[in-house]
Amino acid sequence: MFETFEHDVLVIGAGGAGLRAAIEAHAMGAHVGLLCKSLLGKAHTVMAEGGIAAALANNVAQDNWQAHFRDTMRGGKLLGNWRMAQIHAMEASARVMELEQWGAMFDRTSDGRINQRNFGGHRYPRLAHVGDRTGLEMIRSLQDHSAEQDFKVYMEFTAYRLLKDGDRISGVIGYWRETGRFALFRAKAVVLATGGIGKCWQVTSNSWEYTGDGHAMAYVAGAELIDMEFVQFHPTGMVWPPSIRGTLVTEAVRGEGGVLLNGKGERFMFRYIPAMFRGEFAENEDEAKRWLIGDKLARRPPELLTRDVISRAIVKEIKEGRGTAHGGVSLDIATQRTAEKIRSKLPSMYHQFKELGDLDITKQPMEVGPTTHYVMGGVRVDPETAQSTISGLFAAGECAGGMHGANRLGGNSLSDLLVFGRRAGASAAEYAKALNAFPNVDEQVARNLCREMLAPFDRTEGENPFAVTEALQTVMQDWVGIVRTEEELVRARKKISSLKERALHVRAGGNRQYNPGWHQALDLMNLLVGSEMVILAAIERKESRGAHTRIDFPKSESKWAKVNVTIYEKAGQMHVKQQPLPEIPEDLRKLVEGEPS
Ligand code: FUM
Repeated sequence: MFETFEHDVLVIGAGGAGLRAAIEAHAMGAHVGLLCKSLLGKAHTVMAEGGIAAALANNVAQDNWQAHFRDTMRGGKLLGNWRMAQIHAMEASARVMELEQWGAMFDRTSDGRINQRNFGGHRYPRLAHVGDRTGLEMIRSLQDHSAEQDFKVYMEFTAYRLLKDGDRISGVIGYWRETGRFALFRAKAVVLATGGIGKCWQVTSNSWEYTGDGHAMAYVAGAELIDMEFVQFHPTGMVWPPSIRGTLVTEAVRGEGGVLLNGKGERFMFRYIPAMFRGEFAENEDEAKRWLIGDKLARRPPELLTRDVISRAIVKEIKEGRGTAHGGVSLDIATQRTAEKIRSKLPSMYHQFKELGDLDITKQPMEVGPTTHYVMGGVRVDPETAQSTISGLFAAGECAGGMHGANRLGGNSLSDLLVFGRRAGASAAEYAKALNAFPNVDEQVARNLCREMLAPFDRTEGENPFAVTEALQTVMQDWVGIVRTEEELVRARKKISSLKERALHVRAGGNRQYNPGWHQALDLMNLLVGSEMVILAAIERKESRGAHTRIDFPKSESKWAKVNVTIYEKAGQMHVKQQPLPEIPEDLRKLVEGEPS
């Protein structure tokens, strides 16, 4: 019924986190397998266009890991796991330098160092970048480097469910997308690096692969997930034409000096500076003009506030009737920078708008609006080892939770996936080395899962899986978006119950060979799990914090600053509980509360 493969360490997902984990596990002597849902190199990592955050201090000498740590914790509204944020800030620079040694061609400063640009929530220009194609260059460099290693890459394979031997992980079962045949991978350790859940929403920067497979597999296997209420809506996605609505417009446009204007031509972000950030950001045009790289006293422009703040502001402007023709706001760099500068720093954006929107961004403003981009929540992991609450199961990158708290700073995902991808790979290899033999796989369980996967073919009647997916995306878009209320969340939860029922009866026609309807029927199960986790956690957190805005609980409450909302499975039901955040040590607390050095 299935072919079988064996690896000490099996990495699921081949974006930045997965590739970095595989490289590390292989370097430590493990026999490694790497599964990609699509072709190698096609990963959401490439959608982190603007840069990798690391306190290299190439553009501003004052920058250091402490300042990066502070910005990350404050950007995450103090809900991030302090130890993850500390490790990340301390190790990010080494990972960037390593990537350069592996061939990444970063933009340079005039004196030849890696150039760093401004991004939202970062006190200093901190994003090492390659124009506006940084994620792509990262994937290219990791791929080039891994071509020299002899780990095995399996492309176009969808992992369906994790297998366990008692309490420990023993492998994964899934199918080849091309043939529809099943394969079982036995493994001593598994690293989840499957990315996010963006396809739960209608408007998203995520492509078809991001159906929350890792989140769902971990949940079904019994792992705990945290912070699922926090979903990042990137402020700037394309809004026109409708066929490409949601396509990312990199924050680098604002990092390079682009400004946001409402339909009346007002630079509205001056009106939305939160109390927490007063004094750090310019409150009017005059102050904004004094913004100079390297001038410690200068104030940053409000377009570089954190993403949660900007997305909310954009929604408010649009709702109050100050949007643009197609229901967005304007992002203008044409009047701020020369055409030459725009084309050299933002080549992809220039081509993207030219090709897809028939618009020259060196001459005209772009029309933009929020797009679902990233989920801060994910598998609960140990900060040092990236191991989940299940023995032998590790997670890194977007599918792991804790690092970013209530809101992620732009650029921190690329550094996160390098730092924790490496740690997950190393820990998984060590874990595998300590096992004498492969954990047992119950083949009957595997066969049952194959039958479960085939169920959509057995039905003679039933709905089209794409129709149910569309209904789910509408619910999430309308009721589980940037601003939420108890009433809408409860309504969404009820709707999810009925969609789960409908999903059990969807039908796939044809045969198993490259059958998108069948793939969708299986992905739909994971989309439903991911959506339900977000809704349940969002109902539980009765406050507004970071990317989670409750109109009915508009304030951030100190009680909620101390807890993670945790999701777990018990007896086939999804449960939610509150768990205390690890206490931040005094010296680090002072850093977070004080002025940056
Ligand atoms: O806007 C961007 O370039 C995205 C970066 C990120 O999500 O880190």
